[in-house]
Amino acid sequence: MNKRILTGITTTGTPHIGNYLGAIKPALELAEKYDESFFFLADYHAIIKNSNKVEIEESVKEVALSWLASGLDPNKSNFYRQSDVPEILELSWILNCVTAKGLMNRSHAYKAATALNSSDEDKGISMGLFSYPVLMAADILIFNATHVPVGPDQMQHLEMTRDIAGRFNHSYKKTFELPEAITQTADKIILGQDGRKMSKSYKNIIPLLSSEKVLKKSIAKIVTNSLEPGEPKEFNNCSVFSLFTHFSSEEEQNELKESYKNGISWGDAKNKLFKKVNEHILPIRDSYNSLNSNKELINDLLEEGSSKVRPMAKELLSEVRESIGISKIS
Ligand code: TRP
Repeated sequence: MNKRILTGITTTGTPHIGNYLGAIKPALELAEKYDESFFFLADYHAIIKNSNKVEIEESVKEVALSWLASGLDPNKSNFYRQSDVPEILELSWILNCVTAKGLMNRSHAYKAATALNSSDEDKGISMGLFSYPVLMAADILIFNATHVPVGPDQMQHLEMTRDIAGRFNHSYKKTFELPEAITQTADKIILGQDGRKMSKSYKNIIPLLSSEKVLKKSIAKIVTNSLEPGEPKEFNNCSVFSLFTHFSSEEEQNELKESYKNGISWGDAKNKLFKKVNEHILPIRDSYNSLNSNKELINDLLEEGSSKVRPMAKELLSEVRESIGISKIS
């Protein structure tokens, strides 16, 4: 059995350093170790929370370019848009029919959304949001992925995928592998400007694809305490230091620790951080800019990507249809 790694990225918002360090970079590293890799743009997941057409279009482009600019090789990894593989939606419906509503009621994402409501708990909750984990299960199961790198917030969805796959296998025929999650450890959590996890929902992001000037500005906005230059500073629980560790060697980190002890100013510390981040991002930014001027190429790449994976999806789906009794009358 081939080891297949698969992960999807919801196309909302503009990619940030947290997406890069927490998802893109580790996934590309993992791709080297697995027999096959599948990376896709989860654009049907994106419309669950965003109904702004322009924002969706923009984000699909930015996310696609971020992956390519960060080194995704479309000859080695399968790279496609979820919406270009309609078999995923077909499987999603079939899986909806074997998924217990009670299982979906327990979804953290759904519960968090209802918790914000007071009198009418269903206010603003679409069926898309409610059955989001089923679509995610279809994304994974359509290619029988064996390993799925996900953030800690997606662990529950992966459990649900296993549950749904198990139910299908049990009710019909063993069709699906139960995928395993690959998660990062807590020290890999990337902190945003306000010290919380970097996330578009917290509006605390440092963008990946911005100009040098914007990058500098967003690093300058990292919240620090009010210690003056000359006063010793603590590097533990410091967002500036924490971000620095992701872009530097141990030696460089020790140097910065020493500077903290010696009372480096926050301005200088942020400047050191900016230099390291900028140095790292430079080739990504260049590659992004050149790809950005050739949109035909991106569209072609994505089209090729889906035409490579669709035959696999079709094959699995026809097996599934056969198993459930949706086949030729005999
Ligand atoms: N729900 C995931 C997120 O928001 C994105 C996603 C969609 C995904 N389908 C997937 C991740 C399948 C892994 C596997 O981060």
